[in-house]
Amino acid sequence: MIIEPRIRGFICLTAHPEGCKQNVVNQINYVKSKGAINGPKKVLVIGASTGFGLASRITSAFGAGAATIGVYFEKPPAEGKTASPGWYNTAAFEAEAQKAGLYAKSINGDAFSDEIKQKTMDLIKADLGTVDLVIYSLASPRRTHPKTGVVYNSALKPIGQTFTNKTVNFHTGVVSEISITPASEEDITNTIAVMGGEDWAMWIEALKGANLLSPGATTVAYSYIGPALTEPVYRKGTIGRAKDDLEATAFTIADSLKDINGQAYVSVNKALVTQASSAIPVIPLYISLLYKVMKEEGIHEGCIEQMQRLFQTRLFAGSAIPTDEKGRIRIDDWEMREDVQAKVAALWEQSTTESLPEIGDLAGYKADFMNLFGFDVAGVDYQADANEMVQVPGLV
Ligand code: NAD
Ligand code: NA
Repeated sequence: MIIEPRIRGFICLTAHPEGCKQNVVNQINYVKSKGAINGPKKVLVIGASTGFGLASRITSAFGAGAATIGVYFEKPPAEGKTASPGWYNTAAFEAEAQKAGLYAKSINGDAFSDEIKQKTMDLIKADLGTVDLVIYSLASPRRTHPKTGVVYNSALKPIGQTFTNKTVNFHTGVVSEISITPASEEDITNTIAVMGGEDWAMWIEALKGANLLSPGATTVAYSYIGPALTEPVYRKGTIGRAKDDLEATAFTIADSLKDINGQAYVSVNKALVTQASSAIPVIPLYISLLYKVMKEEGIHEGCIEQMQRLFQTRLFAGSAIPTDEKGRIRIDDWEMREDVQAKVAALWEQSTTESLPEIGDLAGYKADFMNLFGFDVAGVDYQADANEMVQVPGLV
């Protein structure tokens, strides 16, 4: 069928299989162009279908030649109804991996559940024996706790006081002021329960308990810091508390892996347009200014450039992994450069509905957003009949 974007707020209800495929092929080609990485050989990616997780999976497979298992939560297609983008991304990735002779299988379901953990462990045991790298890249608005059944909904709110600042509706380009009322104690607890480290620790404990981690195995989860501008709603808000918890969990996991010589890290990544980040107020305006500055400086990166650089120059560079004073890997180094942040802060002051198209990269933001769903991708014929029923070849 002919598939068109149907946008509702922060999401697009449709996805284009050919556009998603082209995005994946572009990412694979990028990774190949950067040369081989002396990296992991058997990789589990939790949150493998979009954003940083997908880019981690592509880098593992096409950079290091790794066998990969991906876990994700995506909507399959139905006659006349498209799948969600991560489904098509995974279909394309697994087809390309298998063509290249690389093992690639996946599991679609709730990674927070015991059932999906068990299913994943059974697959590792049967096919790979052990894994040497576990990437934890979930971004979810809710979590059902596997032991208690309690459903936690995360919040994106400041803590202590109302936060008022500018934001942009990236569809219309309208810059307006937004006020976000402070979180309750419950909002904080809930957000930590969803996006904090508990589930990451549960995964690693289960994998280790079943002897499915190779000696010297590494696990990495992703975090964000960002500038003072977004601090009230991000790093010092509810989501920031969850990231504090995630970062602290890296140390407890590292301790638990000492006897197998394993390691646990958090990598702080750059701000990028993903389904997760588009829903956070204020962030889209920051990203559109940041993109403008980083593109002008020639240091702009997408998810794949970030993850390729993380693997090649940090995780598997063959030397000690450089970390900051809090033990975190910093691949947000170019975003956080003083000159970059000074320029963004100055542009922030000037940004209005009228000035933004000129001083910010609103077009780049929109293009990235459409690309997430496989739309506006160069080289794709959107007038042609597309097969919405594409299947994932390695789906277990
Ligand atoms: P994303 O929305 O693109 O990817 C989320 C992934 O999690 C998808 O594969 C999705 O299928 C999967 N998922 C969600 N709920 C699931 C569930 N219940 N069970 C199984 N899979 C589930 O998000 P992203 O932006 O790539 O974020 C990944 C991580 O990177 C997050 O920790 C995020 O905070 C962090 N991060 C994001 C940014 C950014 O700007 N986007 C920057 C730095 C760090
Ligand atoms: Na991801």
